Amino acid sequence: MEPRTRPGDVYPGEEGKSTKKRQTRSAAHRLIDFFDERGRDLPWRHTRDPYAIWISEVMLQQTQVRTVLPRYLSFLETFPNVESLAAAHVDRVLAQWSGLGYYRRARQLHAAAREIVARGAFPNTAADILTLPGIGPYTAAAVASIAFDEQVPVLDGNVERVLSRFLALAEDPKRSEVRRILLRQAAQMLTPERPGDGNQALMELGATICRPAQPSCDLCPLRSDCRGWQEPHRYPRPRQRRAVERLEMAIAVVEHVGRLLFFRRSEDAEIMPGLWELPMVESISAGKDLAARLATAYGGVWETGPVIANLRHTITFRDLRLEVRSACWSETIPKAESRFATPAEAKNFATSSIVGKVLGALGRDEG
Ligand code: ADE
Repeated sequence: MEPRTRPGDVYPGEEGKSTKKRQTRSAAHRLIDFFDERGRDLPWRHTRDPYAIWISEVMLQQTQVRTVLPRYLSFLETFPNVESLAAAHVDRVLAQWSGLGYYRRARQLHAAAREIVARGAFPNTAADILTLPGIGPYTAAAVASIAFDEQVPVLDGNVERVLSRFLALAEDPKRSEVRRILLRQAAQMLTPERPGDGNQALMELGATICRPAQPSCDLCPLRSDCRGWQEPHRYPRPRQRRAVERLEMAIAVVEHVGRLLFFRRSEDAEIMPGLWELPMVESISAGKDLAARLATAYGGVWETGPVIANLRHTITFRDLRLEVRSACWSETIPKAESRFATPAEAKNFATSSIVGKVLGALGRDEG
């Protein structure tokens, strides 16, 4: 990565100090050194374009860097600026979001792009960015600090963990009093010259050094000031996890001359709204047979055949066991929008992540 200040540079207030004195650099400056010397070289770190930074921050919120990397470049190729995103039909945006999950983010991105174009310019302060639809304090602060050098701290999951350990704070970082303390500390970790890099350095530290399990405290630039490094696992105290819900589902694969039957989920669905899916119903309970349940959910007349694959899939707190069956469907009055498509064609519309998994298991992930 191309640092904006070189590691050996003398920082304001340190002019005239000997090298040894400079080794007693503030935690904020040690963080910046860490970022320059050991930060990963990631494409969104080479730009000051608020639009590109915004896209990367939204993608990175619930998705890992290695999954985001190819999707980020391809998204920016398709929608290189806020105008092209605003002008696109939302279905094209959703299709470009394929593989990233949490599609609500893509809908909100699209709505905010339209709002930015309507306002005439990308807002350039965290307070203004926060007024856009679907943008929260994290994204507003990340974009304002990285693109516009505004001195605003960010708190994401990584930063919460790093600073809870730094301050030896066991309390839940989501509580508002704790959040206030963490934000104050995060602000102290920023240098006036490079607030965006300071924020990214804290996130980077959490992702690569101050990891949830087995942090590498011996490599940490903050260790000399860290109150929690000898017992990092105590901070913050683990939250009570929501119980995992197990669901047994049946998926019906209806094939007609190489094309498979897809239905569109309702826009009001609690999970995966508006995405295309292979027909899927709960397979146990209710007492009705599968064909009857498929008819209730999707309309038409169904016949189900043998099991052709068994899979597991996790969506947040739901652990799905999926029994995939071949099936026949004759359309009467369908209850949802439907289409037949080849697996290659299905890549061009927004499908639930289960679709890719099923096609992979059936050896049909061609194209
Ligand atoms: N996680 C989310 N955004 C990030 C960024 N800009 N740098 C490091 N980690 C991140």
